Amino acid sequence: MPTGRMPGVRGDVREIPHLRPPVDLLEQPPCPFHANWSAATSSAPDGWSADMEVVILPGPDDCGRVVADILARAVGNGGAGTRPTLGLATGSSPLTAYRELIRRHREEGLSFAGVRTVNLDEYVGLPADHPESYRSVIRRELTAHLDISDDDVHGPDGSASDPLVAAREYEQQLRDGGPVAVQLLGIGANGHIGFNEPGSSLTSLTRVKTLTEQTRRDNARFFDSPDDVPRHVITQGLGTISRAQHLVLTASGAGKAAAVAAAVEGPLTASCPASVLQLHPHATVVEDEAAAAALERADYYRYTLEHKLPHQPF
Ligand code: GLP
Repeated sequence: MPTGRMPGVRGDVREIPHLRPPVDLLEQPPCPFHANWSAATSSAPDGWSADMEVVILPGPDDCGRVVADILARAVGNGGAGTRPTLGLATGSSPLTAYRELIRRHREEGLSFAGVRTVNLDEYVGLPADHPESYRSVIRRELTAHLDISDDDVHGPDGSASDPLVAAREYEQQLRDGGPVAVQLLGIGANGHIGFNEPGSSLTSLTRVKTLTEQTRRDNARFFDSPDDVPRHVITQGLGTISRAQHLVLTASGAGKAAAVAAAVEGPLTASCPASVLQLHPHATVVEDEAAAAALERADYYRYTLEHKLPHQPF
């Protein structure tokens, strides 16, 4: 934040009421860039230093199987006595993976005992038991069907009387909980991940965001009326998300093609928040043919997948 004179502004900006930042912002460290970035790069498991891997598959069910493989491996890697943390996302894109995990739990005995989950984001103002609160959605679509206790399902508290405080507390909870083994991500048509709308700092931490009208319209299908979609949310920041050991973004459908191309092949920019994956040491983008339609290097990604070495896991 500015702490002194700004061009064209007389005096100290902190003395001008409408320019005065909230006290807690003034108290934040000057720039979390280095702290976040070294945390992100050092949290990758030993030996991981990879390029972003782009996996193009025929349809959403194929994507779901690969994403489920990655999540199941993270659960299995935990080993006895450890409590792996999975980062979960809402939206339609992860649903095929969630269904596949539930199937493996029921039919193949895949156990999630001891697993903790953390949500990416939450609407401000919806009670936790509202059917469209992200806490309810994750419970309904995944965790209630697995051997994961409700006490181990975490997310921001969107119904807190002070959402700014709730956001800071969630950030602290995430730090205290240790590294997230795999963070699953969908992508908004405007390139958002979590609810980090375009313009979000690439190093941002968990905070309150105001949704764009496009995102509110996109999410209106889950509510009785478009006016019911909350305007504010609490979301993990891009810096927070980047601390996970493995980022897995999944997308399906033509409506995501432009956003996926911008994230994977466009410039690294806050204008496409998902482009932050380009900086991560272990990021995998799993999308169907329709969502891959605007990728210039699609043939190379297909060729690479076809010639993947046996010891090269996702
Ligand atoms: C919401 C969520 C995002 C999700 C996005 C896309 O905005 N906050 O985490 O990625 O929806 O959802 P869908 O997969 O339904 O298009």
